[in-house]
Amino acid sequence: MSSSAGLNEFDPHYEETFDNSHVYYEEMRRSCPVAHSEAFGGFWALFKYEDVLRVQTDSRTFSTAEKNVVPPATRNQGRRPPLHFDPPEHDKYRRPITPVFSKSRMLTLEPSLARYADELLTPLVEAGRFDFTLDFAEYFAARGFGLVLKLPQEMMWRSREVQVQYYRAQTAMDKPRIIEMSDRLYDIAREIVAQRKADPQDPKEDLVSALLFAGDSGEPIPEDEVVGSIRQFLSAAQAAPGAVLGSIAVHLARDHSLQERLRRNPDRIPDAVEEFLRLYAPYRVFARTAVEDTEIGGRLIPAGEPITMNFPSANRDAEVFVNPHEFDMDRTPNKHIAFGRGAHRCPAASLARLELRVALTALLSMTSSFELAGPVKMADWLEFGPSSTPLAVVSA
Ligand code: HEM
Repeated sequence: MSSSAGLNEFDPHYEETFDNSHVYYEEMRRSCPVAHSEAFGGFWALFKYEDVLRVQTDSRTFSTAEKNVVPPATRNQGRRPPLHFDPPEHDKYRRPITPVFSKSRMLTLEPSLARYADELLTPLVEAGRFDFTLDFAEYFAARGFGLVLKLPQEMMWRSREVQVQYYRAQTAMDKPRIIEMSDRLYDIAREIVAQRKADPQDPKEDLVSALLFAGDSGEPIPEDEVVGSIRQFLSAAQAAPGAVLGSIAVHLARDHSLQERLRRNPDRIPDAVEEFLRLYAPYRVFARTAVEDTEIGGRLIPAGEPITMNFPSANRDAEVFVNPHEFDMDRTPNKHIAFGRGAHRCPAASLARLELRVALTALLSMTSSFELAGPVKMADWLEFGPSSTPLAVVSA
């Protein structure tokens, strides 16, 4: 067992393209699957499926109570539930959240979401050229969560704007700016909670009411923690779906026969979505901190050092997935971990799946073909996925 703290075996600072990270990660899985990086104040990075899964499912050893994201997020107003709490404390926050995102409840949002996709896409498709990420995906993801929270659109756009600034500050590790933007997200969360306190709703359907009035089986959650939780959701809800949607658009723009196949067989879109989630998992920033010195893959990880779980890499591990870089919607079982596993697995996976399915259905049905109309720009380390996806489309 050997320690490499201080070594720079992985460097996340490179110019990312749509394809180069997956080449880099494959090399890391082969040559250094548990790697130390000096970037962002120092962290460990796990590249193999088995190692990521182990850390995800052992919350006793690997805690989120301290460093749970790299670069470190500010906790200027305390820990934000549910992510910053370990089980069993974590259960108190997750219990009221889980039913709100049930698959059956999310399906009731489908007609509104589909209508919104049509409204947003119609003028873009008529124009023939647009930026799928900037003109569509980001608005669409914000709208999805806005529907769940029954929020006015204006508030979602406002939170999206602040969220983008918050992310930029985080990547630049600009602490004063991070705190300023985090405070602004807290202000929006506080506004939402105050509004819902004044007008409580059915806790089975409304996230804020569910947290505020945790119900018979749950302990009441203090109001400042409910605010922290909504603040957490405002960030989590908007980033990943937009990033994955952009990746899906790039993939399909490069593969016209797959576009055709899905247009002819829309019933296969859910399988396609699963395979896209496997290929284009967006997160590599989520982390855990070992509560004691621990060994992973023969390396000594000292207590207190953050360990990131590279989901895009784990999902292409050849030890788990045959032909890992190939799109194969007949892959069964498809054991991808884009939504994580264990206590902190994404509570909103049903919403995310619905958003991806509805958006993809709309794009395919409203066009007879589409292709890239310029260079794809990538977001940064915080999300794998495009920040700009120029498309040229032929309307159906
Ligand atoms: C394609 C879209 C999405 C992907 C790939 C994704 C992925 C993930 C992953 C991997 C985790 C686990 C983090 C960890 O273990 O540290 C997570 C947690 C979480 N996600 Fe998502 N997510 C998506 C969409 C969403 C949406 C739309 C929302 C909100 C409406 C959301 C809210 C959350 C929250 C609150 C947590 C923390 C849960 C906890 O700590 O118990 N996510 N997500």
